[in-house]
Amino acid sequence: MESLIRDISLAPKGQMKIDWVAAHMPVLNALKKEFERDLPFANQRVVICLHLEAKTAYLAKVIQAGGAEVAVVASNPLSTQDDVVAALVAGGIKAFAWYGATDEEYHHHLNQALNFEPDFIIDDGGDLVSTIHTKRRELLGKVRGGAEETTTGILRLRAMESAGDLGFPMIAVNDAQCKYLFDNRYGTGQSVWDGIMRTTNLVVAGKTVVVAGYGWCGKGVAMRAKGLGARVIVCEINSIKANEAWMDGFKVMPMVEAAPYGDVFITVTGNKDVIAEEHFKVMKPGAIMCNAGHFDVEINKVHLNSLSKSVQVVRPNIEEFTLKDGKRLYLLAEGRLVNLAAGDGHPAEVMDMTFALQALSLKYAAQNADILENVVHNVPEEIDQRVAELRLESLGLKIDHLSEGQKAYLEAW
Ligand SMILES: NC(=O)c1ccc[n+]([C@@H]2O[C@H](COP(=O)([O-])OP(=O)(O)OC[C@H]3O[C@@H](n4cnc5c(N)ncnc54)[C@H](O)[C@@H]3O)[C@@H](O)[C@H]2O)c1
Repeated sequence: MESLIRDISLAPKGQMKIDWVAAHMPVLNALKKEFERDLPFANQRVVICLHLEAKTAYLAKVIQAGGAEVAVVASNPLSTQDDVVAALVAGGIKAFAWYGATDEEYHHHLNQALNFEPDFIIDDGGDLVSTIHTKRRELLGKVRGGAEETTTGILRLRAMESAGDLGFPMIAVNDAQCKYLFDNRYGTGQSVWDGIMRTTNLVVAGKTVVVAGYGWCGKGVAMRAKGLGARVIVCEINSIKANEAWMDGFKVMPMVEAAPYGDVFITVTGNKDVIAEEHFKVMKPGAIMCNAGHFDVEINKVHLNSLSKSVQVVRPNIEEFTLKDGKRLYLLAEGRLVNLAAGDGHPAEVMDMTFALQALSLKYAAQNADILENVVHNVPEEIDQRVAELRLESLGLKIDHLSEGQKAYLEAW
């Protein structure tokens, strides 16, 4: 089966990127050694559908080291790095992805990856699982389980589970503490600003930044905006989260009230139409918008296009929309995940924890495939703990341990 990639000659450049991140992923390095010894995925085929950049590539190498035959496919066409994909293919992994794939090509790639007939999968956002359950149902007896990376994917899986439609067990990696406390908060918090700053080359200090969604990602994005000197407004639909944002020192108001003030808007809700026609109309000239939620539905591009008389690309990853009244608004990375489509994604040290959870969850799914029910499973507590301990060890940090007396005290009533 032939890989579908842009250019294999880019492999050496991609390999350098993979080597750089691998040097900063000590937890995965420890797991790689363990997997090489124990071969937990011997004779198994694994399809990985994630953002295809260097950290993901290293995860694929770790799974391969565990004995699996591995194929990768993009979870988002704008985050694929062609050199990294080429390096994977040069290293014996199948790949079906290139940067900027059209919708049609993207779905063709998903289908090609599924022709690999995986025993286990890793998904990000649920497109692979959804394709298997809709267009490739013949694979339902073949795929024995998998793991899901993100909040949006888990929402979709839970909906499938409630409808009784989930055909194999999936582990909810996003819901592990070592995921959302670090990846969603610190990872998104840093990499979203990295994406915005490198794309726009503008100052953040003094600007009014509107963050829509104060979940784990939104908290990180707002926290880093404050650190960069921005005035931050938070928009929420959940009154508890809104209280939290207020107590964290941010202004809180509905989007329609925030829209005229914002210089930079960031949506990170997992919901659609968070910024739409009524908001575009009252935004100030020059406002910049971007999205960090999983799908490009948070900023309504259909409305934006219909309000505009012209659209042009003014810098890589910046579209300028000139509205019919002459006002100009800017959209980064076509409204797709700004940190991945206009950046390199989360820092390697953060993804070290997330992908260690992925690797150990996949091992758990492989070891327990015969007994796991076809529902969404939490990552076992021992795996979460193990990743936290390995990370502390890699940092050379030690912590206190409960004495027998303390244990007895905590258990007594
Ligand atoms: N960019 C990245 O690298 C990255 C990383 C992790 C997760 N994600 C994605 O980011 C999104 C958010 O993830 P999370 O973990 O923060 O989820 P979360 O569930 O913790 O938070 C989402 C928040 O958005 C709020 N919300 C929903 N609809 C809203 C609306 N119309 N207006 C304002 N607020 C609204 C919810 O009340 C909630 O507080 C998901 O799509 C997730 O898949 C992206």
